[in-house]
Amino acid sequence: MEQMNETTSIAMPRIGDKAPAFKAVTTQGEIDFPKQFEGSWVILFSHPADFTPVCTSEFMTFATLEGKFAELNCKLVGLSVDGLYSHIAWLRTIKEKIAYKGMKNVEVTFPLIEDITMEVARKYGMIQPGESTTKAVRAVFVIDPKGIIRAIIYYPLSLGRNFDELLRILVALQTADAFQVATPADWRPGDEVIVPPPGSCGVAKERVEGKQEGITCHDWFFCTKKLSQDEIFKTIRRT
Ligand code: BEZ
Repeated sequence: MEQMNETTSIAMPRIGDKAPAFKAVTTQGEIDFPKQFEGSWVILFSHPADFTPVCTSEFMTFATLEGKFAELNCKLVGLSVDGLYSHIAWLRTIKEKIAYKGMKNVEVTFPLIEDITMEVARKYGMIQPGESTTKAVRAVFVIDPKGIIRAIIYYPLSLGRNFDELLRILVALQTADAFQVATPADWRPGDEVIVPPPGSCGVAKERVEGKQEGITCHDWFFCTKKLSQDEIFKTIRRT
């Protein structure tokens, strides 16, 4: 196995890139990524190690929220550089022994990739030597139904992820795609959305003169409109 040192180059996929392809063994059998997930959104995420507390709290939360992700046509795929038997033993322990914040008997049914060679973790820039050379950081890749990376978050080892934010990102990206809008700071479904400047995203010129119904322009570059939660979820929700 290649030794990591300061000069080892590390691939860092970027937003807009095709998700790097790989085949891997998981707790749910072999997967062919991202090919077999075409048509679904996917959150591919890494955690530093099995049998660690922050990761355990995250897995319990991911598994508990899996239905909410599924309503948004989003599948979950986890990864760490541990082996398959460690993954299986850890997930069994979570189900049988861990009760946390009202969650118990939690069964993780989404695939968890074994990556003992770190091949996948390296492809996705999940090994960040300043943080650890032997563990993946907490990476989150939001990948769209065409296999394109649409958002990336990296967290350090000590910081558990914010699941409201992960769901918010998914809804915001799907809203942007469905309605050709952008979403402002701290946006939540039901808040006003941003109508992009004229000429971009197929928005007509009339907007500049403030002629388009329902659009409020604070200045030529900053226009908003209402978009109800109802309209959003009617359009983007799968079930
Ligand atoms: C944890 O998940 O608790 C953890 C993992 C690696 C380093 C620090 C914390």
